[in-house]
Amino acid sequence: MSSPLRIWHPFTNSALDPAPIEIARAEGVWLHAKDGRKIIDAVSSWWVNLHGHANPRIAAAIAEQARKMEHVILAGFTHEPAEELATRLRKWVAPELMHLFFSDDGSTAVEVALKLAVQHFSNSGRPEKCEIVALKHGYHGDTAGAMSVSDDSPFTDPFRTMRYPVHRVHSAYCYRCPVGLRRETCHIECVGELQKLLEDRADRIAAVIVEPLLQAAGGMIVHPVEFLQKVRALSSKHGVLLIADEVLTGFARTGKMFACDLAGVTPDLMCLSKGITGGFLPMGATLCSGHVAGAFHSENRMHTFYHGHSYTGNALACAAANASLRIFDDEPVFDRIARIATIHAERLEQLRKYAAVGDTRQIGTIGAIELRTEDAGYLSAMRPKLYRFFLERGALLRPLGNVVYVLPPYVISPDELHRVWDVITEAVETLF
Ligand SMILES: Cc1ncc(COP(=O)(O)O)c(C=O)c1O
Repeated sequence: MSSPLRIWHPFTNSALDPAPIEIARAEGVWLHAKDGRKIIDAVSSWWVNLHGHANPRIAAAIAEQARKMEHVILAGFTHEPAEELATRLRKWVAPELMHLFFSDDGSTAVEVALKLAVQHFSNSGRPEKCEIVALKHGYHGDTAGAMSVSDDSPFTDPFRTMRYPVHRVHSAYCYRCPVGLRRETCHIECVGELQKLLEDRADRIAAVIVEPLLQAAGGMIVHPVEFLQKVRALSSKHGVLLIADEVLTGFARTGKMFACDLAGVTPDLMCLSKGITGGFLPMGATLCSGHVAGAFHSENRMHTFYHGHSYTGNALACAAANASLRIFDDEPVFDRIARIATIHAERLEQLRKYAAVGDTRQIGTIGAIELRTEDAGYLSAMRPKLYRFFLERGALLRPLGNVVYVLPPYVISPDELHRVWDVITEAVETLF
């Protein structure tokens, strides 16, 4: 028999990176490898898993739905799992966000938000208002539009010619303050760059896109709530739409259902994915206000949003999302989250005393340390060493260069979480 196709693994260089580990089954926070190893999934499998692997309630909901109807085209049709999800989300999102457009993943949820913002103004007779503002250190996905609004990085470098031009303004990276101030005494002066841009050019700008309160892939950079509040105030003042990319932060990663809730901010558009299905199936969703959607409700057929993916509104993914939201309703999910946050805070406090630790950051269930190094950034030489070190000790952690973070499923027990922080502490003590 000829040899099988070789699976091309994401974010993996087959010449440099270790061979993939075959996982036979997964349960709770544990990945069980075919070779007998047990590995704690301390990154929720790329930030998607909320209630544990193989969660029986979500698994049963998908199986039950599969026996009834797996998928049906959403153009011109609807179905109960999608309608139920729209109803369930109503409870959690701001009343102004009235419309829900399904897509496939985080990147496509972002593409949809960007296209809705641009077409909103085009349909409203202002096609010149089409430019986008994004933050330095931002990451919004790997498709061409999402890559364009993401900051320049090793991920985007080969694709310079494919990225459309975007205005990029300071983010609130307090550890490396872009305007040279200190958080204790500053007044969020870093937002001044956005302010100036909007004063000069708002008549050309459709939207500002942000990862609210947490720039994740850019290095787990936690922003003060005041930064997001000021971005909201400025975009409202200048008639520019605010897109909150809650692809990671959504579904309680930051301690509230959405990061925007922590700042008391309502965006005009909100992107959701990752945890939406509890980590079982891919799904993206873009929510928008009645004001944004109003420009598409028109007698002019050219005002239609001509965008849709084959699996849009997939019934199995909707069933998984509904089951995940049911778990939020009737299990102590927010107690689990609070427990994680307390342990993160305690362990980060202890890690602060090490000279190798430059900064510690936390928001809700996400705890991170930024290690001091000459070569800060995703390609830091530290990264592969740390990754192997953690795996050898049974913890799946994927440092973002010199930033090590823990982002576990909410069902992690205190013992399991301490074990992860023990491994990180050991790395800080022995590798530096
Ligand atoms: C904030 C944010 N937006 C968008 C994306 C892209 O999501 P996906 O990988 O599902 O396309 C990510 C992925 O990490 C993300 O963190």
